[in-house]
Amino acid sequence: VRIGVGRAHGKAILFGEHAVVYGAPAISLPVHVLPVIANATITTGESTISSELYRGPAATAPERLSPVVAAIDAGLDFVAPGSSAHVTIYSDIPYERGLGSSAAVAAAIVSAIADAAGVRLSPAERFLLIQVAERVAHGRPSGMDAHGVVADTVIKFQRPDVTPLIVARPLHVVIGDSGVPGATRQAVGSVRELREKFPAKVEALVARLAGYAADAEMQLATGDWASMGENMWRAHATLAQLGVSSPELDTMVNAAHGAGALGAKMTGGGIGGCVIALAENSAHAKDIAAALSAAGAANAWSTWVEASK
Ligand code: PMV
Repeated sequence: VRIGVGRAHGKAILFGEHAVVYGAPAISLPVHVLPVIANATITTGESTISSELYRGPAATAPERLSPVVAAIDAGLDFVAPGSSAHVTIYSDIPYERGLGSSAAVAAAIVSAIADAAGVRLSPAERFLLIQVAERVAHGRPSGMDAHGVVADTVIKFQRPDVTPLIVARPLHVVIGDSGVPGATRQAVGSVRELREKFPAKVEALVARLAGYAADAEMQLATGDWASMGENMWRAHATLAQLGVSSPELDTMVNAAHGAGALGAKMTGGGIGGCVIALAENSAHAKDIAAALSAAGAANAWSTWVEASK
């Protein structure tokens, strides 16, 4: 038997969450320190799953693993119809924190199954298979996570296009986890309600968020972290005005400020979930991570994106 291997990683949104729902660009970066690896073998018996959450037949997996089962079925239907698979998943990404856990697990699974079957998926094929699982996980996923969890560098996503961005110098960031599950669906719904009540106000806030994402493209290409950081503080304030921050997220953003971060904001859907802070370098990132932990973060990871070649 051939053991297939698939990999993916977490993602964090730098700018554009919520605005992307209304057609604005969003920018996400890979979180390589939060990897997912899946192994798969093709079999003729029943499909099985082995993970931290569950070990047993796919058919009797608990409801919260339904996106995992969907990824297995979608992968098999595409590369080995009528077969089954034994799938093992190792993930370091916490669930429901806006870090792309469900998309990354799906990406690793479909890649592992294709590898086990000796098939090489094109990026477009892989994207469509991940989206099958993401629809089970999220209903109407924008597709940003499905791209972000396999991208090696910073990407711009503006439905339906994804563009890798130029990064002038290493980008050091810290991700702080509030420990509170994010509530993306609820947050997206509450922004939509606010927009129905106060269309002009919400459109102005969305336009501001779109502007920060647009600015970031040049700031990344020139390494202008000072200006980009300023926009991160502003983006956090704007998202808070949209009602999607939380006391825990505000506390962590303030702690990042106290630690001299160049900028910080909530990242992802909000209400719970994570913040992202911009650091000068890796030593500074460690200091910020310590400050976030002291401010109550359940976890804080420092990570970086290499400069473009
Ligand atoms: O919480 P996450 O990382 O899934 O991000 C959600 C991003 C939103 O813009 C709020 C929603 C979306 O589908 O793009």
